[in-house]
Amino acid sequence: MSLVTTRLAAAHDRPAIDRLLREAGNFSEEECIIGLEIVDVYLGEGPTSGVNGDYPTVVAEREGRVVGYATFGHTPMTEGTWHLYFIASDVTIRRAGIGRVLCQAIRDVAMALGGKRLVLETSGRELYGGTRAFYDATGFKDEGRIEDYYSPGDPVVYYVWRW
Ligand SMILES: CC(C)(COP(=O)(O)OP(=O)(O)OC[C@H]1O[C@@H](n2cnc3c(N)ncnc32)[C@H](O)[C@@H]1OP(=O)(O)O)[C@@H](O)C(=O)NCCC(=O)NCCS
Repeated sequence: MSLVTTRLAAAHDRPAIDRLLREAGNFSEEECIIGLEIVDVYLGEGPTSGVNGDYPTVVAEREGRVVGYATFGHTPMTEGTWHLYFIASDVTIRRAGIGRVLCQAIRDVAMALGGKRLVLETSGRELYGGTRAFYDATGFKDEGRIEDYYSPGDPVVYYVWRW
């Protein structure tokens, strides 16, 4: 299998990130719009914002092609808590380690900046079963849920990766 590398996103990655969101298979139109909006916040802050700015975004590349991305960042008003806001890998090359490489890259950044944990929210719906299996397999623990959070019958599930 060819090597997957990560780097901070740049303006020219925007169309690839838009495609990753739209082809992911489980994001609603609203989620696709918001996912790209927060990437735009990051890109709009310019190249100096880096991992300390709002919504740092990384892309994963394989053979020169963007095959995944994630937006994360330090959670305001916390000591050592970081958030994973969005993650998606190319729908045509799932289960090839791209998601794992992205999470590890984020963990490395957070750890280097004093982070102690990475937190995320996801849906408890059946549609997200594969996504939750991914978090279970990459070091996250399910630490609770709120029923009917997103809509009736659609709970939020909180995952935490501590190191
Ligand atoms: C979640 C997602 C990012 C995972 O990306 P990926 O590149 O396929 O993940 P990886 O290949 O690194 O998977 C690592 C491990 O997680 C587990 N895993 C990943 N996807 C899985 C699935 N659909 N079912 C069961 N286990 C899964 C496996 O243990 C896998 O290791 P293995 O393939 O060696 O068995 C990808 O499925 C995706 O983009 N989903 C749609 C968008 C989404 O749901 N984003 C998160 C919103 S909260």
